[in-house]
Amino acid sequence: MDPNVFVKPKEFNPSRWDDLDKPASFLPFGIGPRMCPGANLVRLEVSVFLHYYILYYRSSEEIEADKILEELFESFIGILKQREYKVKAGQSDNFGGDFLGSLLEGHHNADKEVRISVDEIIEERKSFYFAGHKTVTSLLSWSMYLLAVHTDWQEKQERKFLNSLAKKIQPQKPFQG
Ligand code: HEM
Repeated sequence: MDPNVFVKPKEFNPSRWDDLDKPASFLPFGIGPRMCPGANLVRLEVSVFLHYYILYYRSSEEIEADKILEELFESFIGILKQREYKVKAGQSDNFGGDFLGSLLEGHHNADKEVRISVDEIIEERKSFYFAGHKTVTSLLSWSMYLLAVHTDWQEKQERKFLNSLAKKIQPQKPFQG
């Protein structure tokens, strides 16, 4: 590209095509009766390429993340199947007393209208995990940080904790033989 027309021609700057100072200064396909007959074909091919590139290109980190997600999915399905097997085999009369057990009850609900799918169970678990994990880790980190900075509060907190612990622990009755 002519440096008299294009500022820093070797620099990657797609915005340079927005406003061309000199009209007809860039004619990649030529012009006039001998203009490239493949111009529109190329434009179409580039559009198709960009479409697939933007939508489906996966970086190595993304491929790795997909793999981890798939492994997590499989291990989770394993847990579900195990619980279902126990009920089917008569080893248990419910799917478990925890949150996953309730979700599995929902999955096996006789009423099709309210029944939830395996994907929905997984999404629910993810929400709970992230909602619980993010909030608690940030709460604990801040607590640690603030207590480390304000040592007087750390001591107060320690005394409070030890007092409540002392109240809970019943004094041992002396042995009466
Ligand atoms: C990015 C891709 C392409 C670029 C940048 C390009 C560019 C050009 C340019 C600058 C010319 C000379 C035009 C002139 O003399 O004024 C030309 C001619 C020509 N191109 Fe392309 N071209 C591309 C792809 C294609 C494709 C895909 C085809 C065929 C399917 C094609 C077929 C032709 C033919 C047959 C001519 C000669 C036309 C003539 O002399 O009458 N080009 N191209």
